[in-house]
Amino acid sequence: MAKVSKPFTVGEYAEQYTTAQSPLLAALSRETHLKTARGIMLSGHMQGAFLQMFCHALKPRRVLEIGTFTGYSALCMAQGLAPDGLLHTIDIDEELHDIAAKYWAEAGVGGKIVQHTGDAAEVVQGINEIFDLVFIDADKVGYENYYNLVFDKVAPGGFILADNVLYDGEVVLPAEAQSKNAKAIHQFNEMVKADSRVEHMLLGLRDGIMMVRKK
Ligand SMILES: C[S@@+](CC[C@H](N)C(=O)[O-])C[C@H]1O[C@@H](n2cnc3c(N)ncnc32)[C@H](O)[C@@H]1O
Repeated sequence: MAKVSKPFTVGEYAEQYTTAQSPLLAALSRETHLKTARGIMLSGHMQGAFLQMFCHALKPRRVLEIGTFTGYSALCMAQGLAPDGLLHTIDIDEELHDIAAKYWAEAGVGGKIVQHTGDAAEVVQGINEIFDLVFIDADKVGYENYYNLVFDKVAPGGFILADNVLYDGEVVLPAEAQSKNAKAIHQFNEMVKADSRVEHMLLGLRDGIMMVRKK
C-alpha cells in the first residue's frame, strides 16, 4: 500500500480534540507574546488544559507554583481549587505582575492567588503551608533545590509537578553534548528516580512533565 503522508501531526490532532482555550487564556497568551520576548516560556494550551484538568480532579486546598511568569499556568490551576483553596505563586521578576493580576481578576480568581516576589529558594522557606500540589517551573538549575526545599511542605499523597523535564529532547544526548540546563534537568530526573519516598511518572506532554506523588 502506498504511504500516505499525514496532513497534520498527532500533537495537532490531540489539540483539536481538547477543549478549546478560553478567550481569556487566549488573550493572556496574546498579550504575553506581544509584551515579552519570552512568550515561549508560557505553558500554552495543552499544558494549561492538563494542569486545569489535574486540579479539577485533585481539588487542592493549597497549591504552590515556582515560576509565575504572566500567570497562565496559575490561572489554569486556580480554576480547579477547592472552594476554600489558595494558590501561592513566586517569581523573581516583578515586571510581569500586573499582567498576571489583571487576568486573574478578570477570571474571578484574584482573591485565591497570593503573588510573592523574590528568589524562590528564599521565599519558599517563609511560606508556612502544607501543599497538596507544587508546580516547579522556574530556573532549571534550581529544580533539585526547590524539590528538596518543598518536600516536607507537601502533604502525604500530595503531588509535585515539574515542567520541561525533557528539555527539548536534550536529556537523551550524551552529557558532553548537553547544555547546562539540560544537565541540571537530567540530574533532577535521576534524583526523583532514586527517591524511594515517591512514585513518579514522566509524562511526555509538550516538553515533559515529571509527576511525583509523595507516598
Ligand atoms: C517558564 S517561566 C514560568 C511560566 C509559567 N509557569 C507559565 O506556565 O505560564 C519561568 C519563570 O521563572 C522565573 N524565575 C527564574 N528564576 C527564578 C528564581 N530563582 N526564583 C523565582 N522565579 C524565578 C522567571 O522570572 C520566569 O518568569
